[in-house]
Amino acid sequence: MELKVDNGDGIESWKEVTLIYSAALRQIETRMEVLNEEFQHVHQYNPIEHIKARIKTPESIVKKLKRHGYESTIDNMVQHINDIAGIRIICSFTSDIYRIAEMITEQRDINIVAIKDYITFPKASGYKSYHMIVTVPVYLSDRTIDTKVEIQIRTVAMDFWASLEHKIHYKFEGDAPEHIKSELIECAKMVSDLDARMLSLNEEIIEISKERAEKKENA
Ligand code: GTP
Ligand code: MG
Repeated sequence: MELKVDNGDGIESWKEVTLIYSAALRQIETRMEVLNEEFQHVHQYNPIEHIKARIKTPESIVKKLKRHGYESTIDNMVQHINDIAGIRIICSFTSDIYRIAEMITEQRDINIVAIKDYITFPKASGYKSYHMIVTVPVYLSDRTIDTKVEIQIRTVAMDFWASLEHKIHYKFEGDAPEHIKSELIECAKMVSDLDARMLSLNEEIIEISKERAEKKENA
C-alpha cells in the first residue's frame, strides 16, 4: 500500500484521513441511534434493526483508485472515493427505509451529494438497497471539513441476500456460473415478495391492535 500525499482538501496524511472519516462515521451513527431512540419514544417502535459502520481499508482504496485510473494520492481518494466511510442501516420494513432517508435529508447540516434508489430500480443482479452519499461537517480545532459518508439502507431480507451475493461474487471473481446467477435473481424476487408480505402483515397487525385498543377504551 502506498499513498502519496499532496495538498488537496487540507487532508494531508493517511492518519488524518482515518481521523476525519471515522469522526464523520461516528457522527452519522450517533445521529441514527438518536433518531431510533426518539422513534421508539414517540411511536413505541424501532425503525432500525441494527447499524454497521466501517472505514475502507487502505488496500481497498488503492485498488479502487487503480480500477478507475487514478494515482494513489490522498487528494484523489478524498475526491473520487465516496465510500471511504460507509454505514449500513438495516431495518425491518421497506417503508422504514424511506422514513430513515427522509429523516437524514431533513438534518440541516447534512448535505446530500447523490442518491441511488436500487429499491425502486433494482440492479440487474437483483440487488436492492437505498444508497445515499452525504457530507457531514467535521469540526477540527482550526477548520471544518465536509466529509463524505456512504449510507446504505436496506431491510434485513435485502441484507441477507446482498451478503450471500457478495460472497458468491467474490468467490467467483465476478464470473459466477449462469445457473447460480439466475438462482440469485430468483431469490431476489422472493426477497421482494417477502418484504412486501411482511410489510402488509405488519400494517394489518397495527390496524387490528388499534381497533382493539379503541374497543377497550369504549367498553
Ligand atoms: P462500488 O465501486 O462497488 O462502490 O460501486 P459504485 O461506486 O458504482 O456505487 P453503487 O452505489 O452501485 O455501489 C456501492 C456499494 O453498494 C458497493 O460497494 C456494494 O457494497 C453495494 N452493491 C452495489 N451493487 C451490489 C450488488 O449487485 N450486490 C451486492 N451484494 N452489493 C452491491
Ligand atoms: Mg463500495
